[in-house]
Amino acid sequence: MKSMKKLNIILFFLWCILLINLVKVNASPLTSCLSSIKGQTVYPNNKTFPSLILDENLYVNYTPSVLIYAANNQDVQTSINCATKLKMDITARSGGHSYEKYGLGGRNNVMVVDLTNINEITIDSKAKTAKIGAGNRLGVIYDKLSQAGFLIPAGTCPSVGIGGHALGGGYGFAGRKYGFAADNIISMEMVDANGKLLQVDKQTNADLFFALRGAGGGSFGIVTSFVFKLHEVPPQVTSMQFQFRRSQVQQLFTAYNEVGPTLDNNIVLSVSLDKDSLSIDGLYLGPAKNAKDAMKPFLSRAPKPTSSNFKQETFFDSVVTFSYVPPNDVVKPKHHPYFFKAKSFFVNKGLTSEAIDTLSNFLSTVSCSTYALFDLLGGTANIVDDTSSFMHRDSIYGIQLVGSDWKNKAQGDKCVKELNDFGKNFQSKFTSYFSYQNYIDRDLDDWQTRYYGQNFNKLVDIKTKYDPNNLFKFPQSIPVKG
Ligand SMILES: Cc1cc2nc3c(=O)[nH]c(=O)nc-3n(C[C@H](O)[C@H](O)[C@H](O)COP(=O)(O)OP(=O)(O)OC[C@H]3O[C@@H](n4cnc5c(N)ncnc54)[C@H](O)[C@@H]3O)c2cc1C
Ligand SMILES: *[C@@H]1O[C@H](CO)[C@@H](O)[C@H](O)[C@H]1NC(C)=O
Repeated sequence: MKSMKKLNIILFFLWCILLINLVKVNASPLTSCLSSIKGQTVYPNNKTFPSLILDENLYVNYTPSVLIYAANNQDVQTSINCATKLKMDITARSGGHSYEKYGLGGRNNVMVVDLTNINEITIDSKAKTAKIGAGNRLGVIYDKLSQAGFLIPAGTCPSVGIGGHALGGGYGFAGRKYGFAADNIISMEMVDANGKLLQVDKQTNADLFFALRGAGGGSFGIVTSFVFKLHEVPPQVTSMQFQFRRSQVQQLFTAYNEVGPTLDNNIVLSVSLDKDSLSIDGLYLGPAKNAKDAMKPFLSRAPKPTSSNFKQETFFDSVVTFSYVPPNDVVKPKHHPYFFKAKSFFVNKGLTSEAIDTLSNFLSTVSCSTYALFDLLGGTANIVDDTSSFMHRDSIYGIQLVGSDWKNKAQGDKCVKELNDFGKNFQSKFTSYFSYQNYIDRDLDDWQTRYYGQNFNKLVDIKTKYDPNNLFKFPQSIPVKG
């Protein structure tokens, strides 16, 4: 009798376990594994899902299996543990500005951990540091920091996410004075493939500190926050805009090549060239009077501009000026999705006149609207730092060639092929071997060396140590040894 009762109780429990499992199966392994997430999880059947995966470049499109808007580090850890348990692919997205949509994994069916809501900005004015959540956009960072009298050097597009940006370099405002955004990272928190939260700085996990500052986008783990070194904002800066005759492009580059690299480090300049126009945008970290003096060595060598403008304003107003979007879109950044394809080159000796002619010829014959930007480097941007895997230190400028505005897929494919073919030839003849990993390009050959140079093998070792099963992968991620 007694044993019969025992058996009944056991049967009852077995039945309960079965029932619970049935319910779980109904909920799908993914949803039940993610049920403890504090933030939002959005699945493809949700009506808003398509709008949440638009991102910046419409030329490439992927559909993730879920978007997880992590509310805190714990959510990131839970997501990674679920990916491992369910043998699913996982990727981090901060600002969604990857040219190849690697923020969505660069393929379908990836779990995407979106960091938008990990967005604290805590400023320590005394120590001149700020803790910045990886989900912040540049526009918000410039706004908050400048209100406290500070800046970090970084890019000009306000909707770019600090996560992907700083991990791959990050160049723009104040770059010749303070280097790349990555150079100004003091420490990071990163969740690794085991779901462990790691402190990363010069002393702690120093190998990871090296890898993340230059090659950190997507390959090693999910960075949730940065501590940046801050720099004081000058009371006034000067934004500069110059227009030149398109026909004087050769003379302009003679000046750019010879004088550009030696200009005052308070200056950043970017030449813009398309088939019809030639102009320069620039910023000087100080008042207009000084800006004019500092620009003299260049302007006295360059052809006479058809228009020139020195505008003294606050640093944040210059951020708005060069964002080319309304001020409200700078502090509440939103995507401006469009179709584009970009090629990147670094130049360490200055383009020859033959190179300029070749490029000019391409710009007037390519089948979609295409322009080239030439970001002046030099100064602090060129200082070699062996605690960083960012290796493009001997360049005098970086070139970006961008094609866009095509009307349909066929025209787009044609233009992309033209850009790829031209890029390959131009790079082999006229520029250095290297390209910028933040302008990531799936069609680039030997990207391993072109992005990471002699650091590539070391990066593979570090990858193998921290992510031996290659959980964090995408079409151009650092591979494991093997
Ligand atoms: C319109 C536009 C303007 C730009 N202007 C500049 C510029 O002025 N200067 C410049 O240097 N660059 C510029 N860029 C390039 C930009 O720096 C890169 O596209 C950068 O990777 C974007 O970062 P994100 O977080 O917005 O992108 P995402 O697509 O979210 O991420 C990019 C890559 O980094 C990984 N990643 C993102 N967040 C994390 C994280 N928290 N931890 C680990 N990995 C992560 C992603 O998985 C992905 O592989 C520009 C890009 C665009 C589209
Ligand atoms: C769909 O996603 C949105 C977030 O974008 C969320 O607010 C909403 O509750 C979701 N709807 C369903 C049915 O899950």
